[in-house]
Amino acid sequence: MNDVIVCHIKQLVTVSGKNQLRCGHDMREVEVLDDGYFVVKNGKFIAVGTGEGYQSFIGCETELIDASGLLVTPGLIDSHTHLVHGGSREHEFQMKIDGVPYMEILNQGGGILNTVKSTRKASKEALLNKAKKSLDTMLLHGVTSVEAKSGYGLDLETELKQLEVTKELNAAHPVDLYSTFLGAHALPGDYKDRREEFIEMICDMIPLIKERDLAQFCDIFCEEGVFTIEESRYLLNKAKEAGLKLKIHADEMAPLGGASLACELGCISADHLMASTDLDYENLAKSKVVANVLPATSFNLNKAYANARKMIELGCGLALSTDYNPGSSPTENLQLVMQLGSIKLRMVPKEVITSVTINAACSIDQVEHKGSIEVGKEADFVIFNAPNLDYIHYHFGINHVKDVYKKGRKVVHNQQLCYEVGVWN
Ligand code: NIG
Ligand code: FE
Repeated sequence: MNDVIVCHIKQLVTVSGKNQLRCGHDMREVEVLDDGYFVVKNGKFIAVGTGEGYQSFIGCETELIDASGLLVTPGLIDSHTHLVHGGSREHEFQMKIDGVPYMEILNQGGGILNTVKSTRKASKEALLNKAKKSLDTMLLHGVTSVEAKSGYGLDLETELKQLEVTKELNAAHPVDLYSTFLGAHALPGDYKDRREEFIEMICDMIPLIKERDLAQFCDIFCEEGVFTIEESRYLLNKAKEAGLKLKIHADEMAPLGGASLACELGCISADHLMASTDLDYENLAKSKVVANVLPATSFNLNKAYANARKMIELGCGLALSTDYNPGSSPTENLQLVMQLGSIKLRMVPKEVITSVTINAACSIDQVEHKGSIEVGKEADFVIFNAPNLDYIHYHFGINHVKDVYKKGRKVVHNQQLCYEVGVWN
């Protein structure tokens, strides 16, 4: 593979440092190099520095990129999405604008259950094509790794269909996918009076999913009116026994203590946290659980935002993600999430970039390989049409990406996809 050198970068945000969750004040200790460069060989970074130090690495086949005037960051990581699903829910939009709460739409058999119907009906090919389109949009916005959940099947056949689509897409598409089994996403209408039976059925799917290597993580929607703390503890313990790592949709609408449960069980992340209490935040701060905050969901549901400032002050380590899904957050745009992170959560740009690179890498358990521009890591990086990190937060609502590289290969050129379809993993 040809070497790539990017040099004379106006602002190179490396995020290098310890390969671990950056918490509290450390979230804003981000390395930024002026007139930076880095060298890529065989898909990995082999040198990083400033000035003319790159010259000795130039060979006859080197692709030399002058990034004068431009910002470069590690490839962005979206660590919470519901990528694979059928249909859309714009027919519920007016109801939402008229003020019908999200949970009420779900309780009337709409919301998630609507998407379950569309996903059960959809062919595998249709699901794959739709998810690929979304993944392309993510890539065009600078995202090079994505977590993708199932959870719109709620039966074995459809859950497997979703997970298989994720696996196939991971092999064919440059964006790396990390798969999460979310069989306990909602209680189907026909199980209304058979909750225990449903939970047992979902638990029974776990060994098969593990055996077929269809998911690395298991998640549950722990929420008032959906699954209780006890049910979540039970199911997540089963998943842990089977060898899956754990995630949890915690305290999105009601303060059930999902975040504290995440700490008790050693989950890799607790996600949403809009309704978490101070005690939950304190428990998160004491743990290594990633606090995965999803401000596009608050924006879209017109709900309160998670108290990111308080979490950071207490010493939590935050990630930020889109929560891309057809109901509570129909957007693939992680840059918008970063801008909301700054404007609505009052996180400074350095805290934000930490939360979509190194901390997001922790949230998908890939911190040894991804999330920063440093020697030995995979060469995923983004060249922005912007002079500095503040600019991409300040000038909101547009896509600032110029070029994207995945494992040292150019996959977006001047805002256009240019990747080869084929075997990426
Ligand atoms: O993270 N809250 C549960 N799951 C998603 C929403 C899914 C949907 O509405 O389709 C979320 O917000
Ligand atoms: Fe979600």
